[in-house]
Amino acid sequence: MDIYQKRKMRQEKKNNQQNNEVEKIGINWYPGHMAKTKREISEKINLIDMVLEVIDARIPLSSKNKEIDSLIKNKPRILIMTKKDLCDEQITNNWKKYYEEKGYQVLLVDLLHDKNLNSIFSKIDTIAQELNKKRQAKGLKPRKTRILILGIPNVGKSTLINRLVGKKATNVGNKPGITKNLEWIRINAYLELLDTPGILWPKLEGKNTALNLASMTAIKEEILNKEQVSIYILETLKKYYPEFLKQRYQIENLEDTPKIIDTIGKKIGAISKNEVDIEKVSTIILKDLREGSLGKVTFDRFEQN
Ligand code: G4P
Repeated sequence: MDIYQKRKMRQEKKNNQQNNEVEKIGINWYPGHMAKTKREISEKINLIDMVLEVIDARIPLSSKNKEIDSLIKNKPRILIMTKKDLCDEQITNNWKKYYEEKGYQVLLVDLLHDKNLNSIFSKIDTIAQELNKKRQAKGLKPRKTRILILGIPNVGKSTLINRLVGKKATNVGNKPGITKNLEWIRINAYLELLDTPGILWPKLEGKNTALNLASMTAIKEEILNKEQVSIYILETLKKYYPEFLKQRYQIENLEDTPKIIDTIGKKIGAISKNEVDIEKVSTIILKDLREGSLGKVTFDRFEQN
């Protein structure tokens, strides 16, 4: 066996291992790196005063990393649910209450269309004032409050940073005593933001968590079985939002999911070699869902968790 054949065999073995892994956890987006990320966040935590934890309002449970509590220790935190414009507010508000009952400060926001972020600033101000009161009680001078934004990919962390900082943003750069490579952005005279958000990997604990994440966020589609995800989307819509499905694709009978795919394929002309191209139909379903063309939906449900 020559070196190329050996290499090919090794690669095939690796691919098989990877496929098994993907099957085992459903949809594997974030292999590895977790330990490094956790270490980095733990290091940053000591430099900050407050955390803005960002989750997606359409999947308020699946997009929330459960390890965050131990990572951020007792730092004050505001839970920010983004994409209000895309969620089913009735269901999402139940999740908001659920988190509030657990003691979280929660805000539901539309980062693309809300004219201002006063609700966020007002909560930040309250926490900042409390922190400075505590400092004063200890005989320390008040100082700027440093904020870290945390969350899994695609929940809107960068959008939030840009909105909070606005056009006036000035990068205050590194300061003596602060770990190298960390840049602080000035929000205003008394607030500073760490320029890079902490990225957490979602924990794919249950089958629905992985599928909910796959449904709502576009990440690493090459290792994600689009067809499996689009079938899940159709099943979920059939269960909770049948009218959206009927209206969007003009379908009357929602009994048989493969038939729905077939009907959508024929309607949108996703046909290759005289057969409905399931890959194309799946792409359209995913796109329609993520852009909100199917309607405002929330996929996380209490009864499933
Ligand atoms: P991340 O840093 O957490 O990874 O997320 P990012 O801010 O990049 O946001 C991910 C996508 O979600 C972006 O869309 C962003 O515009 C969108 N987004 C964030 N917040 C909201 C919101 O409240 N409502 C809606 N409708 N969308 C929101 P994109 O299409 O991936 O990128 P872009 O083309 O908008 O830049």
